[in-house]
Amino acid sequence: MNAKRPIGIAVAGLGSAARMMLPSLQDHPRWKLSAITDIDRDTLASVADMTGARASVDLDAMLAAPDVDVVYIATPTLLHATHVRAAAAAGKHVIVEKPMAETASAALAMIEAAERAGIFLIVGHSRSFDIAIRRMREIIAAGTLGRPRMIQSTVYTDWIYRPRRPDELDPDQGGGVIFRQGAHQFDVIRLLGGGMLKNVRASLFDMDASRAAVGAHSVFLSFEDGAAATAVYNGYGCFMTSELCFGVGERGFEDPVEGLGAARRAYLARSGGSEDGLKRVRAAGQARGIPPHHPFFGLTLVSCEAGDLRQAPDGLFLYTARGREHIPFPPERNVYDAVLAEMAQAIDSDTRPLHDGRWGLANLEVCEASLRSARSGTEQALVRQVPVR
Ligand SMILES: NC(=O)c1ccc[n+]([C@@H]2O[C@H](COP(=O)([O-])OP(=O)(O)OC[C@H]3O[C@@H](n4cnc5c(N)ncnc54)[C@H](O)[C@@H]3O)[C@@H](O)[C@H]2O)c1
Repeated sequence: MNAKRPIGIAVAGLGSAARMMLPSLQDHPRWKLSAITDIDRDTLASVADMTGARASVDLDAMLAAPDVDVVYIATPTLLHATHVRAAAAAGKHVIVEKPMAETASAALAMIEAAERAGIFLIVGHSRSFDIAIRRMREIIAAGTLGRPRMIQSTVYTDWIYRPRRPDELDPDQGGGVIFRQGAHQFDVIRLLGGGMLKNVRASLFDMDASRAAVGAHSVFLSFEDGAAATAVYNGYGCFMTSELCFGVGERGFEDPVEGLGAARRAYLARSGGSEDGLKRVRAAGQARGIPPHHPFFGLTLVSCEAGDLRQAPDGLFLYTARGREHIPFPPERNVYDAVLAEMAQAIDSDTRPLHDGRWGLANLEVCEASLRSARSGTEQALVRQVPVR
């Protein structure tokens, strides 16, 4: 493909994830939003009005269009495998949302379809594309701090009380925080630690009988090189980690302490029933402009042999024998810019992207193994890990 030609992209599924991503495509020098699809006609019409993209309820017709080079698949997790295989069969490159699928076997079918079709497949684990995480990785890779030995990811949110479909809460359908949020944590931890996890031991928690779900987890991960990591997530909306993270929330906006737990209070105030309408209202509110700070996916703390790293509101803090140093850098327009850049780079250079299907499968393997570990009370070996390339 001519590097100068805009890359045509189509978006399938116009919920929360897509609404966060769409602003990246506005006035982008390299990308052109060609087409959108969703089964909900009202959603489709309102996004078409907003973006001017060609709208269709027919995913196959959208995939056949010659001005579509890449498809961003942000449909519910249970549909990823079907939609990725259809896009690959149509010869389109794919960015698919995390978790890649609900099972490793579904993910493998996606990888095989992509390899057969010779298309690039990126799993858009947006959190490891956060600039703060990418900078941490660069500092670690430079080697001056020595090897990373301990990595912590601790995130407390109100995830479980946000409007959901039942499948989103059920780990057997790729739901609950272990699949939906653990997928981000394992991705970040693997990127910072080099990718090659060896085994996992996990406890999962359902703490509210009125909302049956896996809503919290505590996961201990060992790397092949002896490093260790912990991934702790609590989605029950009492304490929230933004309070520990300088009052900055998951997307880089201020998260004042008075507003914390709003989703939990709203959930307690309503009387059950379908949450579909509320989901659509929430999704529509996701396009929020440029954040003043870096997104804070809770507390990420990396201990290397010669120092520790963590996020600052406007950069990183590096702690060494010299004391604390601030490494400043400005926030990015939208975290999906980096996801799009990785795909554009793969297309331009004809080389496999880092966050490809095998990387996504390795993250998914940790989600599945955590579930098995919690159910069996045993440590689980990991066999599908791949290194950071
Ligand atoms: N990277 C992130 O930060 C992030 C954030 C949220 C969600 N996600 C992921 O994105 C995916 C979608 O999650 P969401 O919260 O946006 O879901 P959602 O339910 O808000 O949106 C899904 C959309 O897909 C549409 N849809 C359903 N079936 C379809 C079909 N057959 N064809 C076309 N459209 C269809 C629905 O009408 C809906 O508009 C999930 O895999 C989730 O894990 C990622």
